[in-house]
Amino acid sequence: MNKVVETLKNRKSLRKYDERPISQEHLDIILDCLMRAPTAGNMMLYSVIMIEDEHKREILSQTCDNQPFIARAPLVLIFTADYQKWYDYYNAGNVEEYCSEENIPFTRPSEASLMLATCDALIAAQNAVIAGESLGIGSCYIGDIMEKYEEHKELLNLPEYVFPVAMLCMGYYPDNYNKKLRPRFKKDYVVFKDTYRRLNEDEIKDMFKSLDESYRAENIYNAKNYAQIHYARKTGAPFSREMARSVREALKVWDGK
Ligand SMILES: Cc1cc2nc3c(=O)[nH]c(=O)nc-3n(C[C@H](O)[C@H](O)[C@H](O)COP(=O)(O)O)c2cc1C
Repeated sequence: MNKVVETLKNRKSLRKYDERPISQEHLDIILDCLMRAPTAGNMMLYSVIMIEDEHKREILSQTCDNQPFIARAPLVLIFTADYQKWYDYYNAGNVEEYCSEENIPFTRPSEASLMLATCDALIAAQNAVIAGESLGIGSCYIGDIMEKYEEHKELLNLPEYVFPVAMLCMGYYPDNYNKKLRPRFKKDYVVFKDTYRRLNEDEIKDMFKSLDESYRAENIYNAKNYAQIHYARKTGAPFSREMARSVREALKVWDGK
């Protein structure tokens, strides 16, 4: 197996890090690699905020659904979908005025702009993950950075067309770390040919079989099967509701008007 495939196939999320800081050489490699990621129209619709301030990390560990390991990560990177720089550039270039002269509709960034910028930001983030992994630096995404929009906006001084889509905690693997990969669904249920294929009842049953087998009748959710446990713990949990509220609030400015 070549080294890249080996790195990809052995990656897992790391939430416990060696205490030593990331070397400058490795940090530069990670940043250079993330900036080589594909980007829509080569616009680089993202910005990366490195959180060096310990107090801010502490705050983030609380605002991001109380995950203390965030505060202990040697490197914390926030990936923002960022249309602000291009919007400001268009304004500096009097694009609105030009549009009215040329009868071209001028619109502010829209939901589509946010989705495109989100793609850019996440692809860059994943380059950072793989570059890190290849250097013995593990990482963990934190999706909860999409929560508490108003607080994070203030904490990070975000202008209107910047939205934090992912946070990465990174650090060297601890000595003698026992790496265990988490299982994935079967390929047949994830990769389709030529068209989407809605899975039938038997296939859904088979897809979730091992999760269903992990169900224990005595559980704190009073759940009668694994689907109920999962919903209570993730999709229907307070953090998910907060994420929905927060994203809805953030979306208000991306109206394309
Ligand atoms: C968008 C996204 C958000 C995530 N958010 C969190 C998080 O807030 N906290 C956490 O511990 N792990 C988080 N993870 C890591 C996932 O839990 C992890 O990728 C998944 O369980 C599969 O495990 P693996 O990465 O070790 O294979 C996130 C991953 C992604 C891709």
